[in-house]
Amino acid sequence: MQAIIARNGLETPEPVKAEVKGSVPSWLQGTLLRNGPGLFSVGDSEYNHWFDGLSLIHSFTFSNGEVTYRSKYLKSETYKRNVKADRIVVSEFGTMIYPDPCKNIFSRAMTHFRNIIPDFTDNNLINIIRYGQDYYASSEVNYINQVDPSTLETVGRVNYRNHIALNLATAHPHYDKEGNTYNMGTAIIGLGRPKYIIFKVPGTTSDKDLKKPALRKVQQICSVPFRSTLYPSYFHSFGMTENYVVFVEQPFKLDIVKLATAYFRGVNWGSCLKFDEKDDTFFHVINIKTGKANSLRYHADALVVFHHINAYEDDGHVVFDIIAYKDSNLYNMFYLHNMKKETDNFIEANQEFSPPVFPFHSIDITWVTAQSTSGTFSGMELPGINYDFNARKYRYFYGSRLEWSPHPNKIAKVDIVTKTHVEWRQENCYPSEPVFVASPGAVEEDDGVILSSVVSSDPSISPFLLLLDAKTFEEIARASIPVPVHMDLHGLFIPDTGK
Ligand SMILES: [Fe+2]
Repeated sequence: MQAIIARNGLETPEPVKAEVKGSVPSWLQGTLLRNGPGLFSVGDSEYNHWFDGLSLIHSFTFSNGEVTYRSKYLKSETYKRNVKADRIVVSEFGTMIYPDPCKNIFSRAMTHFRNIIPDFTDNNLINIIRYGQDYYASSEVNYINQVDPSTLETVGRVNYRNHIALNLATAHPHYDKEGNTYNMGTAIIGLGRPKYIIFKVPGTTSDKDLKKPALRKVQQICSVPFRSTLYPSYFHSFGMTENYVVFVEQPFKLDIVKLATAYFRGVNWGSCLKFDEKDDTFFHVINIKTGKANSLRYHADALVVFHHINAYEDDGHVVFDIIAYKDSNLYNMFYLHNMKKETDNFIEANQEFSPPVFPFHSIDITWVTAQSTSGTFSGMELPGINYDFNARKYRYFYGSRLEWSPHPNKIAKVDIVTKTHVEWRQENCYPSEPVFVASPGAVEEDDGVILSSVVSSDPSISPFLLLLDAKTFEEIARASIPVPVHMDLHGLFIPDTGK
């Protein structure tokens, strides 16, 4: 496994046809776009952390029972500058770059400047998000890069700050039935009082002919002040019900002073994130129709959350499900020196790793109560649902099994009513985050298929796109890809509507 997790990927710029075993449903028409790190060294220089790798975009296109694959590196400014220099010249969250002493004074001064007032990298390696009809590779900074989903060409980068005052924004927005996109960001410095921002991009704002980004019509819904000015919470996602945003202000915080001085102190920005186990977790419930936060705040013991699963309103309550950790060790597990260890050594070195647990939190929006009603299921990450059930009461979620390793080797379907689960696995195979696509006219929540991109450490097994029946979790088809595919992070299925 160690041989494939952090090796440099290869582009397949022209589409290649996969060999299908089984039967891909003819109704499945569209493209699964996926994103993740794919290049971990440039020239002789290497990144330190898996989340630093340069973005490689993948597409799996389904048409009349056939599957084609292609991949291209995101041609971000970061990618272009690194390739031109034949070394890593742009700092990433886990890798701080210092100027080449051989360069002239102007070049060195520019490197200093970029790292003192962080003009963050535009290496958007985490997810694919939609604003209007535009698709963007995204990470968690002020830049996103537009990608053409049919060719995987990089259209160009967009700076959130040209449209709305924020420094960071999540790679996990929400979408409503009208096609609007909701997201959250953080305004840290130079943008007035520090605050979290909730914003909306209307679904009808794209203007492809005039090349105007959908973000030009962004609307700020509301803002929430930091509870502590110099220590904003890090957050990776949020929950959304029909009327509310659920925001977990966790004691996993960015230290602004450390961030601003990291370059001089010779440490990376990732080291400026700190988990304060003695602090509380605050839950904010914000009405997205009025823009007002509920006047009551809810707290719980310290926890760390990356991914929300779903949230909904039920009989006067806001119920939200998250994957929670008791500390922030997960981030450290993804340092490349750690990921490259043999499994036994890895387990030994990560004795302290606390696996993800799945508590159900329920907040009564009229009474100050926040309770964890379960916590019995552990080891699931990268959760996904039938998105038609987002913001609705639901029963199933899908995800990767992440136990004593950062290498997910199983995917599972969890029934949150019976608290049972079923799994798919194959020896030496590593399936990506499962993505649910509903059957046409589906009524039942789990009527559809699961898509997962699978790579293998066994050279005799080609990478393949796996299709499971979402009801039974049984394999209905696999499309073997005749070229290398790299392990990735998140993605989005774009249905072909025939327009
Ligand atoms: Fe994520």
